Amino acid sequence: THVVTENCIKCKYTDCVDVCPVDCFKEGPNFLVIDPDECIDCGVCIPECPANAIFAEEDVPADQMKFIEINAELTPVFGPISRSKKPLADADQWNNVPDKLQYLEK
Ligand code: F3S
Repeated sequence: THVVTENCIKCKYTDCVDVCPVDCFKEGPNFLVIDPDECIDCGVCIPECPANAIFAEEDVPADQMKFIEINAELTPVFGPISRSKKPLADADQWNNVPDKLQYLEK
């Protein structure tokens, strides 16, 4: 599977959604996750993310490993999204801010 990691939080650009051929993204208030059972590992979302938040599971950085479980846990909690929308209002200010996990809304 592919995994959405910390830098999506408070950005949620949603460019990733438009290119996913299987609509495997799920949307929360300020973060998206990838449904690990639906993702076909095509990888087309990776270069679309302005926050560089998406990784193949085997490429997830060491300090982001917890997001593998977070994507799986939140998949049934978050709702479907199949088209991009406007990023969150302060997305550009939050892009690349460290330690955003504390702001994750579920
Ligand atoms: Fe998040 Fe990047 Fe998609 S910021 S919503 S993973 S384009």
